[in-house]
Amino acid sequence: MSSSWRRALIGAGVIVVLAIVASVIAFVLRAQPVVQDFMARYPGVAEPAAGTPVGIPVWLNVTHFLNILFLMLIIRTGLSIRSKKRPPAFWTPRRKLFGQAPQRVGINVWLHNTVDVLWVLNGAVYLVLLFTTGQWLRVVPNSWDVFPHAASAALQYLTFTWPVENPWVNYNSLQVLAYFGVTFLLAPLAIFSGLRLSRAWPLKAPHLNRWVPEKPVRWIHNVVLVLFLAFIVVHVSLVLFTGAVRNLNVMFAANDGLSWLGTIIFVVSLAVLAGVWFALTPRVQKRLASLTGTVR
Ligand code: HEM
Ligand code: HEM
Repeated sequence: MSSSWRRALIGAGVIVVLAIVASVIAFVLRAQPVVQDFMARYPGVAEPAAGTPVGIPVWLNVTHFLNILFLMLIIRTGLSIRSKKRPPAFWTPRRKLFGQAPQRVGINVWLHNTVDVLWVLNGAVYLVLLFTTGQWLRVVPNSWDVFPHAASAALQYLTFTWPVENPWVNYNSLQVLAYFGVTFLLAPLAIFSGLRLSRAWPLKAPHLNRWVPEKPVRWIHNVVLVLFLAFIVVHVSLVLFTGAVRNLNVMFAANDGLSWLGTIIFVVSLAVLAGVWFALTPRVQKRLASLTGTVR
């Protein structure tokens, strides 16, 4: 077994043991009267702020799906850059880029950065619509109560009684914190650390680069990957284990019913993801890259 597989297995084992320990502690805590009083006061879901819209619109379904598609490609190409294997080709821009003479980059870096642009554009559309429609009220905490509610929701998840919530109306506070963190902290961190590693960054600014050195930023960019992966594993597991049919209707078919529509659209979405994954062979990547530069 290769050492990276062994490390991954050990890591997974440690996580399972920690989860079991956390669950046992949560069961013990929940048996205490003071914790029961606390949970009666903070059931895990804060009252929605006045004016919070009800329901998930189609644009949110679309931007959420595109986010999955782009992140899939960003993670794939990020891992391929990390592996330091020689890419199958190199791309050189046709003209000066960011005021710098054309320099070649691996085709995996080219694809990573091309998809980054699409990912950021999609994120910008999401944010503009989020703030113009009032949907932001669902994912931005608006009172300190979000913390005790989130603690209560965590205790409920760890003791296998899902918090009573209705994603059509309001997320539970642990969800609010997780969605807020991914959108407003993790994504910006990915963008700023990524920009530092990219050609867009001025390398001829010694003062600036002493303050923002490359090595720690590369480490942060890798931590971003780990945090995205951790979020995705937990998020998708909970979506599927806490009423998959309804959750999939909410996020893939803009309705909160119990029909199979959301599940069907979800399965079709997975097929699209797989199709894009397999269509992007080195040959196709080279052809796409040659639209904007020279590929060798
Ligand atoms: C707008 C957002 C982003 C930008 C501008 C960006 C930019 C970059 C650049 C320029 C590199 C290549 C560094 C090199 O040439 O060695 C890189 C590598 C990488 N990126 Fe990104 N990135 C972004 C988002 C992400 C996201 C969201 C993830 C993970 C979920 C990610 C994961 C990685 C990984 C794992 C590497 C390899 C790092 C290494 O060599 O150790 N990137 N990124
Ligand atoms: C197959 C993958 C995915 C599925 C099935 C899925 C499903 C869902 C569902 C059902 C909701 C609504 C919450 C609920 O009903 O409890 C949701 C919300 C959300 N998801 Fe995902 N998700 C996936 C991937 C991702 C990824 C990769 C990210 C980002 C890294 C993400 C970020 C979010 C965010 C930020 C929200 C809240 C959006 C808002 O209301 O503005 N999801 N997701």
